[in-house]
Amino acid sequence: MAEAPIRDRRRDEFPALARGIHLLSHSLGPVPRAAHESVRTYLERWENQIAEEPWSTSWWDLPTEVGDRIARILGAPPGSVQVQPNTSVALSVVASCFDFASGSRRKVVTGGLDFPTTGYIWEAQRSLGADVTVIPSQDGLTLPLEPILGAIDERTAMVALSHVSYRSSHRLDPRPIIERAHEVGALVLLDVYQSAGILEIDAAGWEVDFLVGGTIKWLCGGPACGYLYVRPDLARGLQPRLTGWFAHADPFEFESGATRYAAGARRFAQGTPPIPALAVCLPGLAILSEAGLPAIAAESRRRTRRIIEFALERGWRVNSPLRDEARGGCVMIGVPQPGATVERLRARRVLCDWRPGVGLRLSAHFFNSDEEILEALEILAGILA
Ligand SMILES: Cc1ncc(COP(=O)(O)O)c(C=O)c1O
Repeated sequence: MAEAPIRDRRRDEFPALARGIHLLSHSLGPVPRAAHESVRTYLERWENQIAEEPWSTSWWDLPTEVGDRIARILGAPPGSVQVQPNTSVALSVVASCFDFASGSRRKVVTGGLDFPTTGYIWEAQRSLGADVTVIPSQDGLTLPLEPILGAIDERTAMVALSHVSYRSSHRLDPRPIIERAHEVGALVLLDVYQSAGILEIDAAGWEVDFLVGGTIKWLCGGPACGYLYVRPDLARGLQPRLTGWFAHADPFEFESGATRYAAGARRFAQGTPPIPALAVCLPGLAILSEAGLPAIAAESRRRTRRIIEFALERGWRVNSPLRDEARGGCVMIGVPQPGATVERLRARRVLCDWRPGVGLRLSAHFFNSDEEILEALEILAGILA
């Protein structure tokens, strides 16, 4: 294998890596050592709240700090990302900005490879007048571009799709979709949960309207929060119905009656943020930014290609795109008993998971070494032999 381009993998900063081979970043990234310190600091500041500066004032800055770190990973400007309880709420906030019942734009275009939460949320908008069109995947693995482009018309309010599918790692090229949608006055939301942190995302350059995702997977942040990016010039005109006092322009004025929305991304907030969780996710976000997304993405491309080559050489079924440009950071391998295989791999200290219909899901992140990836594949070959 070629020499790895990321010189410092910072493996020491992830203690779990000494205990086995972690190929699960598409589902749950490992915890950074520094997260211990973050939690300790959080608890100490709470305990010392009488003696120190009022601790709760720092709650105000933490969501902004986390949002700005995520913005950097998304190729978005500071102040454009609002943390959310999770991706599902982020999506629901966006949906709550639309009035489908009045006006001529009722159509929402979604895809057959989206994570199910997307369907649940948009289908729930039908009772408010939304007309949901799902572009099916013919093979359960890929989503062709042409039918998506064909479905976007003057009646379309929103195109909401997974950038990279959790099922097959199929990656959409967002540019033609965004171009077509904007041509007819529609907006585009990408679920980047399976791409942010492992691929290069260019929110500003793509001129995408909304991005949603969360910290659990490639961002090494654990189950801390979701996030919502809104194109800043669009954000100013949106008034989410899923709201709360943190979205108010002057929350500490404690005004009653209808809200006055904050000018920036905070207009998409609700109530008190999950402070301990935000403290835990900061170190992972920092390490990721320092490793650098261009290097991480290039490394991932090389590694996923290598995993695919290994699989094809042994006649295994690869349920992910073979073309680099059409693939995310994960490789799906069809095996006869995926659940049992995952358990046998775990017994050998190789961590991965599986999904019905596509089989094993294996992924490498910047902290993995080429040697351990090869070792895991050899263990898998032994199990399947
Ligand atoms: C692509 C994608 N979108 C959304 C979700 C759901 O995210 P949340 O639990 O934060 O709502 C997942 C979770 O695995 C996912 O993979």
